[in-house]
Amino acid sequence: MNKPSKLRWGILGAARVNERLLPAIVEAPNSQLVAIASRRPGAAGETLRKYAPQQQEGVREYDSLETLLADAAVEAVYLPMANEEHAEWALRAIGRGKHVLIEKPMALTVADIEAIETEARRQGVTVMEGFMYRFHPQHARVQEIIASGLIGEVCSVRASYSFMMRPARMYRLAREPGQGGGALWDIGPYAIHSLRWCFGSEPVSVAAMARYVESGADSAASGVLDFGNGRFGHFDISFERARRCEYEITGSKGGVKCHVVWQLPGDVPVISWWTEDGRECVERYPAANHFNLEIEHFSDCVLNRKPPLLTLQDAKANCRALAAVLQSAAQGKTVKLS
Ligand SMILES: NC(=O)c1ccc[n+]([C@@H]2O[C@H](COP(=O)([O-])OP(=O)(O)OC[C@H]3O[C@@H](n4cnc5c(N)ncnc54)[C@H](OP(=O)(O)O)[C@@H]3O)[C@@H](O)[C@H]2O)c1
Repeated sequence: MNKPSKLRWGILGAARVNERLLPAIVEAPNSQLVAIASRRPGAAGETLRKYAPQQQEGVREYDSLETLLADAAVEAVYLPMANEEHAEWALRAIGRGKHVLIEKPMALTVADIEAIETEARRQGVTVMEGFMYRFHPQHARVQEIIASGLIGEVCSVRASYSFMMRPARMYRLAREPGQGGGALWDIGPYAIHSLRWCFGSEPVSVAAMARYVESGADSAASGVLDFGNGRFGHFDISFERARRCEYEITGSKGGVKCHVVWQLPGDVPVISWWTEDGRECVERYPAANHFNLEIEHFSDCVLNRKPPLLTLQDAKANCRALAAVLQSAAQGKTVKLS
């Protein structure tokens, strides 16, 4: 029997991020959008028409998330709900036998990710955390530069992610971190993930500081992750300053910088590197859409039974490091991880 060539997707929630992911599902050659659901009557259809106006037919619109999960035509679910809802709805989706792409952060606790892992194994489905940025070819180029030995051993990494939060989006600061609110749960996952990937290992301790708003949510944070042997990862995130989305690696013989990590349409990928013996280079690449590449990758993994690039082990490690950062910032002390 021929293998199906397209994975049938449903979207669980009329979230803003659908602006990027919904077109990605519609455009991916190995994917087909078959349903979208929202708990707000009419919002599913509105989202569909707004972000994929060409997709007028064949997509079912539901006013209930459970109804979408009961739809046997849906094989995989994209889960872009609010951070604190990820674990609960991922478990419900997996329980219905659906493959799930969960927006970052996958969950707010390692225990929740362990529960997702157990259920996914039981149901034999694929689950991945939605770190779209990893699918941009520019990061493979950075890893190639590191592997070539050009900059020597990776000694220090700095990740800076910030933007000025628009007033309409300030509800992200309405909840304290325990409920998924704040900058650390929102853009912090990228910063921590970038540091861990650049070092290719896990931090042994973290020390962080944050600025908190009245609700208890952090609006800006900075800190250091100790990767052992004098290797430090520095992060700096904020909802209160100009856009910055870069990481920079300093090695024993030189350095490399990825200038625009969250590529938006029109952004030109730029990587620059230098060496102590005086060589330097700025590399520019054609634009690539990491959302599309993420969807194509996930569909390919499910259709062809391949393991996803981003594992549940990675999701647990990121959550563990982020939880330690939150704890360190809240308590004003270094938190050990091993
Ligand atoms: N990968 C990326 O580039 C990226 C970018 C942004 C966000 N994210 C992640 O994606 C997830 C969603 O973020 P988001 O900012 O897109 O979320 P959002 O717009 O706040 O939507 C989150 C959920 O809230 C409900 N909702 C949306 N608008 C609402 C409104 N006006 N009133 C009441 N409820 C509303 C929706 O559920 P119902 O439709 O069921 O009501 C939706 O699923 C988060 O986990 C975030 O971390 C990822």
